[in-house]
Amino acid sequence: NYYAVIMAGGIGSRFWPVSTQDFPKQFHDMLGTGQTLLQKTFSRLNKIIPSENIYILTNERYLEVTLKQLPKITEKQVVLEPAMRNTAPCILLSALKIQKENPEALMLVAPSDHWIEDETSYSNDVQTCFNTAQKDGVLMTLGIAPTFPNTGYGYIESDKNENGQGIEKVKQFREKPEYETAKQFLASGNFMWNAGIFIWSAKSIVASFEKYLPEMNALFSKGIPVLNTSEEREFIDENYHKAENISIDYGILERSDTVFVKRATFDWNDLGTWGALYDKLPKDSDNNTVVNADTVLKKSKNNMIFTTAKKLVVLEGLENYIVVDKNDVLLVFPMEKDQEIKELLKDVSDKF
Ligand code: GDD
Ligand code: MG
Repeated sequence: NYYAVIMAGGIGSRFWPVSTQDFPKQFHDMLGTGQTLLQKTFSRLNKIIPSENIYILTNERYLEVTLKQLPKITEKQVVLEPAMRNTAPCILLSALKIQKENPEALMLVAPSDHWIEDETSYSNDVQTCFNTAQKDGVLMTLGIAPTFPNTGYGYIESDKNENGQGIEKVKQFREKPEYETAKQFLASGNFMWNAGIFIWSAKSIVASFEKYLPEMNALFSKGIPVLNTSEEREFIDENYHKAENISIDYGILERSDTVFVKRATFDWNDLGTWGALYDKLPKDSDNNTVVNADTVLKKSKNNMIFTTAKKLVVLEGLENYIVVDKNDVLLVFPMEKDQEIKELLKDVSDKF
């Protein structure tokens, strides 16, 4: 009864120039391991979930690359969105599909672009969540011990009544708080970060949509009788864009009072920026991280150097920079401003 849906529709704009709208980061080998982030996510899940029960949710323009990178899945496992509507609509659509196929289905929802190295602990935690998620109404998330007041994450306060398996009831879920609030959350010591990995039964999540996003539920439920037929595409094309543009975090998790959290026992990073990638990769004795390139580095420290092809990079006197080389684009950017690459894109988009 185990299913998974991998959300692979994001653009990853802070990883420009490697990640672009035509070819976002989940389809790239960002870690230099020979596998793309999507392939890594798939194989991690495939250890617990049969490949025929793994669905990919993505924009229709990524169908070809998805099938090419995941030869074990078939076209009917790729749920194609004609428009970007954030995570709530695509999760509801896949839950309805999966529930139709198997009314007792338990499903895991995972982003396609996270760094998780300890796959054994990951599998164990997910298994514990699946066990708990069998109870009606339960929505499970995985919680990470926070290390700084990151305002790009969801924060989870639990009742600290741990049930023996590391699972606690959630008192409040706060998506992307203001900096001052995030600081207070950290200081209180009562909060975890939401890893963005969810486990629930198809039944429980559909019931939550009925309660908290009834219009979206009504819109998509009409399509159930035709799902998995040739009419499915037509239904989605006609109706998907009418759905509210809202994330599962704001739409359901902040509102529900039956959310539970499992403290993750694995190390996690959401690989949101070049700096996050730098943190997770091995370093040389001057704390430089190099992916794909050959290098001659003099008096250069704490740099992230990434080339998409093999290339010689020679640096002297550079510190705390991101150096990214991709065909016709070269980016040299201060590491501490890595969040700003998203904004920078607006200035350069007409140049290439
Ligand atoms: N299929 C599809 N369609 N996928 C999408 C869409 C969409 O319209 N929008 C986003 N995604 C995918 C992204 O590619 C990513 O893998 C995942 O859904 C989460 O979306 P993000 O846009 O990266 O969310 P976030 O980082 O702002 O916040 C979420 O993740 C944090 C942890 O990384 C939230 O769940 C936070 O609470 C959480 O802390
Ligand atoms: Mg993210």
